[in-house]
Amino acid sequence: MTKRVVLAYSGGLDTSVAVRWMREQWGVEVVACAVDVGQLRPGEDAEIAARARAAGAVEVEVIDAREQFARDFIVPALAANALYEGRYPLVSALSRPVIVEHLVASARRHRADAVAHGCTGKGNDQVRFEVSSRILAPDLEVLAPVRVWGLTRADCVALAGKWDIPIEATVEKLYSIDENMWGRAIECGVLENPWAAPPEEPFTLTRTPADAPREPRELVVGFEAGVPVALDGEATDLVRLIGAVGDAVGAYGWGRIDMVENRRVGIKSREVYECPASLALITAHQDLEGITLERDVAREKQRVEIRVAELIYDGLWHAPLMRALDAFVRETQRDVTGEVRLRLEPGRCFPVGRRAPRGLYDHDLATYGADDAFRHEDSEGFVRLWGLSAQTWSRRQGPGARR
Ligand code: ARG
Repeated sequence: MTKRVVLAYSGGLDTSVAVRWMREQWGVEVVACAVDVGQLRPGEDAEIAARARAAGAVEVEVIDAREQFARDFIVPALAANALYEGRYPLVSALSRPVIVEHLVASARRHRADAVAHGCTGKGNDQVRFEVSSRILAPDLEVLAPVRVWGLTRADCVALAGKWDIPIEATVEKLYSIDENMWGRAIECGVLENPWAAPPEEPFTLTRTPADAPREPRELVVGFEAGVPVALDGEATDLVRLIGAVGDAVGAYGWGRIDMVENRRVGIKSREVYECPASLALITAHQDLEGITLERDVAREKQRVEIRVAELIYDGLWHAPLMRALDAFVRETQRDVTGEVRLRLEPGRCFPVGRRAPRGLYDHDLATYGADDAFRHEDSEGFVRLWGLSAQTWSRRQGPGARR
């Protein structure tokens, strides 16, 4: 029998009720573990800790994982230009494995025999919590109270009131929102109709382009071996850099995504995201790779990128294939060093220049001007042989054959 559980605590209604509910229903001690991956307002940590205690947690931990999240999770995802189904920068998917690392560490510290999460049975996040936990700590049980309790939102609001858990939650919940420094995911409510255009109200990181400054501006992002290290020529630490890029790009009304995506559990779901920082950094990083990656490496990497995005989405961050593909991606980043100029206009963000000290762009090979160093005479034989196989086919079997 489980005696002590470490719960991934968000401070929201469900996980707050879950603390007390697990105690009442399962007779377990609950340690609440809140992991800050950039979603907490300044001072919110104390508020969350107080709420967890009021809900009946025997211990409460609020862990600042922002730097670790940026360095160990966002950096590899950015190096892989990771976009699920070509569009979604994996905001929630990336945060779950770092949260689980802290849950497991906390479980060891508190000699717990289980971890728990507040996910429902329909989503991807349960997959990510449970698979990561089983990989990192196969001996720990994984409990999912929300999946089994059969409570409606109204029930939860009533229980929070009855148990004196200080939480401002209404029975009518407009959206389900998950947020961290890589972006924001918005689901539910009116968005469940995939034909309905998203209303303005849930967006907090991006303006509508109509409210963006009319004057365009530029943002110069500096990379060192694939890692963003500078903004407008100034060395900037990663957490601050991601925040500053998000602020600048969001103000110009760029970075929203509206898509129907395929969840791991087989459901198609309408998702709205705002990801100004991640989309802008991926755009810049991809552009820098254009000038720094050798052609065949770049092409192979595209295949790997798709797979990396799927692994992250599907909860396999800690699985062995992820390590192997990460080793490949890491190797490709050695010379992805340089700068990209991003231009911001209302509703737009796009690269307008790039330079790299070890870039592969050779002006004298590329130029049509007087400095041309390309040996034009080499092309004649090369092109003839390049087409030779198809030409032979044409003569015998194709349009060049006399039938
Ligand atoms: N669909 C996205 C994903 O699976 C976002 C999930 C957001 N999670 C949430 N609990 N609202 O990564």
